[in-house]
Amino acid sequence: MSMIRSVLRGMGHALPTRVVENAEFEEWIDTSDAWIKSRSGIERRHFAADGQTTSDLATDAARAALEDAGMTAETVDAIIVATSTPDTTFPSVATFVQGNLGMKTGFAFDVQAVCAGFVFALSNADAMIKSGQAKRVLVIGAETFSRIMNWEDRSTCVLFGDGAGAVVLEAGEGDGTAQDAGILATDLNSDGSYRDLLYVDGGVSKTQTTGVLVMQGKEVFRHAVDKLAKTAEAALEKAGLSDADVDWVVPHQANLRIIKATATKMNVPMDRVVVTVQDHGNTSAASIPLALSVAKAEGKFAPGQLLVMEAIGGGLAWGAVVLRL
Ligand code: UT7
Repeated sequence: MSMIRSVLRGMGHALPTRVVENAEFEEWIDTSDAWIKSRSGIERRHFAADGQTTSDLATDAARAALEDAGMTAETVDAIIVATSTPDTTFPSVATFVQGNLGMKTGFAFDVQAVCAGFVFALSNADAMIKSGQAKRVLVIGAETFSRIMNWEDRSTCVLFGDGAGAVVLEAGEGDGTAQDAGILATDLNSDGSYRDLLYVDGGVSKTQTTGVLVMQGKEVFRHAVDKLAKTAEAALEKAGLSDADVDWVVPHQANLRIIKATATKMNVPMDRVVVTVQDHGNTSAASIPLALSVAKAEGKFAPGQLLVMEAIGGGLAWGAVVLRL
């Protein structure tokens, strides 16, 4: 039976020019390149320049994705930005991007599900495309986590980075089978009883400050290893597929050990997992679209291949998207 599918038409990314190697942290906190690399897989990350905002990165990534898709901004119906580090409390980063792109039509809004934000945003976009509310949607993950680091906390400040990735989704027609191109299934979850495991200790309503990131890393790690393969497999099952059908896992890039443990649980060899954590650190909602765009630029993907994206973060919120190229 024919049905509307949200088909991936373009990908792009943007990274600040400043690259910070692990060794730089040794200058002011008790850490080492060896510790950071062995515990997280991270070797370097990018930090935004003074005055460079999340919407600046998001706009650059959006332009790159539109160019990759061969489309212009005026033909886009909606912009959804996943971010936890907006330029300002309001309006949304998505409206900044819309303004920067010179768009006078369509609608724009942000989604906040921290590191799982891009997966949640993709799911939103898919629902809007399927329901006929939009035909072309720019879905962006963009962050400047360097703005919410506690630079005295060695257990968190070495882990995060800044960047943005974007995709263009467009309504296409499928025949309702798992062989269709486009988003085949999504699986979203959250459990607010774990909100104290990973949070920012400030905010508009509570402290009227921005706050800094606080994380119980070991606990989050434990949940990630438990939940990521399960949500990926739940999404695959909804699509009528299984681990064996997966061509590429595109995971949230928080920790190489989590990425490897999840791949092992899914029985997917590491040469079919996109890994960029060594170069970007954890860029929260930006990490999956960044990884997608980098992998595409490296020539990894081929039409018809099956991708599974999975992520977990503050909330806790976690989920997965199954997409055929
Ligand atoms: O994106 C959202 C989701 N977030 C995540 O997925 C992050 C999940 N968590 C993790 O990735 C890992 O838990 C970390 C990378 C954050 C930490 O790795 P770990 O293997 O869980 O280390 P740990 O927290 O158990 O710390 C081990 C030791 C501790 O010292 P003691 O108590 O054993 O003496 C820490 O104080 O390492 C120490 N430590 C450090 N040492 C050098 C913590 N941070 C550092 C550091 N440099 N930067």
